[in-house]
Amino acid sequence: MAKNCSTRWINRREFLGGVSALSAFGLPGIAAASSLPTILKPEPARVHLFSDDERQTDIWAYNQTAPGPTLTAKRGEQVQFRLENGLQQATTIHWHGIRIDNKMDGVANMTQPPVEPGGQFDYVFTPPDAGTYWYHPHFKSWEQVARGLSGPLIIEEDEPQDFDQDLIFAIDDWRLQQDLSFDERSLGNLGDWAHAGRLGNALTVNGSGNTRYDVSPGQRCRLRLMNFATARVFNLDFPKLEPWIIAVDGQPTEPRRLTDTPLMLGPAQRYDLVVDIPEDAAGDLYIDEITRGGRFGAAAFTVSGPAQPARNRAPAALPPNNLAEPDAAKAQRVPLLMEGGAMGRMASAIVDGKQMEIREMARSKKLVWAFNGIAGIIGDPLFRVERGRHVVIEFENRTSWQHAMHLHGHHARVNSRNGKPAAVQDWNDTILMQPNDRVEAALVADNPGKWMLHCHMLGHQAAGMSTWFEVVA
Ligand code: C2O
Ligand code: CU
Repeated sequence: MAKNCSTRWINRREFLGGVSALSAFGLPGIAAASSLPTILKPEPARVHLFSDDERQTDIWAYNQTAPGPTLTAKRGEQVQFRLENGLQQATTIHWHGIRIDNKMDGVANMTQPPVEPGGQFDYVFTPPDAGTYWYHPHFKSWEQVARGLSGPLIIEEDEPQDFDQDLIFAIDDWRLQQDLSFDERSLGNLGDWAHAGRLGNALTVNGSGNTRYDVSPGQRCRLRLMNFATARVFNLDFPKLEPWIIAVDGQPTEPRRLTDTPLMLGPAQRYDLVVDIPEDAAGDLYIDEITRGGRFGAAAFTVSGPAQPARNRAPAALPPNNLAEPDAAKAQRVPLLMEGGAMGRMASAIVDGKQMEIREMARSKKLVWAFNGIAGIIGDPLFRVERGRHVVIEFENRTSWQHAMHLHGHHARVNSRNGKPAAVQDWNDTILMQPNDRVEAALVADNPGKWMLHCHMLGHQAAGMSTWFEVVA
């Protein structure tokens, strides 16, 4: 069973009428097509997380907003983003889910040196796939993402799709004090890292606890779900709505009804939904987050205006991205045993080449997790393959906790879970695993370079759940 944390969200509002619709957050954002790079500057910022509360929160943000600006680009067209580091510590930007040129992947000390305070770095790349992606630092990300550094990255399809609105739902949790100040002291707490991670107590969507989407009856909306939290799995429910799933982690899938609710959205995962606003709807339709603490309205569609005829048909499939199809039969198999954490059985692991007892790992290295008996990044990769090789990664979660396993530079098809073939084999770049889950995921290793593979619960990553693989040309 998943360890479900019971949360009482700081409740700034009860969705009573009269709260203004401040943050319906549609596309497009910053267009990035011209030859001038778009500047992204992470720096300290002071923001209102709740528009109905005067108090502000000191965070770190790209260009003074959290989430950072919505970046949009077209598939197959080159983009340029210039990172200007306005922080007092080094940083980088990683373009999560983009099958990117390795030297633009933004992993500090693996694909580039960290960008020091005051320094800059130009990211220039051509996104090969349309879909819903995001960006965040890949240096001390357990701190930098928690403080507010993350933003949506939308790669548009070649042709406009049949939606009345294209909406972003970037959900995040913040750990705040009762006066809404950012809880700094809990950053880096090994106790959190050995459990579910550093969970927040204030929920925002698109940087606000008061997000409403203005819609009219009968409209068909694309809703791009993305989880920017550093640890929390959100359990999302859509009462009175019957959404379709049309893409997972950016990659299109055959449209299917979301029947398995709540939808579990792991850290860093994305789902593109199609939401049809009923013709007879009025008022607020909530998107709820469900924990043991109860049901909480995370955001709402505010329905008003004249009705338009609803599309009484399934949404069309999005045009496919061209990913090479893996063949499990000819794949190299790579076991990946995940161990450690609280209530785990791991007694020791290899740290810096030496076997170390778990208490000593925790005390002297802040490490409590391991992959295949090794804690943290070492000189040797988990696997090294020639470009074009088919690979099946056999994840085994021998821990008492959920994890969100992320591979860089590639998407993998989840073939099976716990020995059963997956009903739908979606492409994922981030695979949510329940305690004791076994997952087989297949990919064609066709993107040369050094790629990270880690848990996207960023405290878990920092505390040992981190490795890498290499694709050699
Ligand atoms: Cu979203 Cu290695 O990161
Ligand atoms: Cu994890």
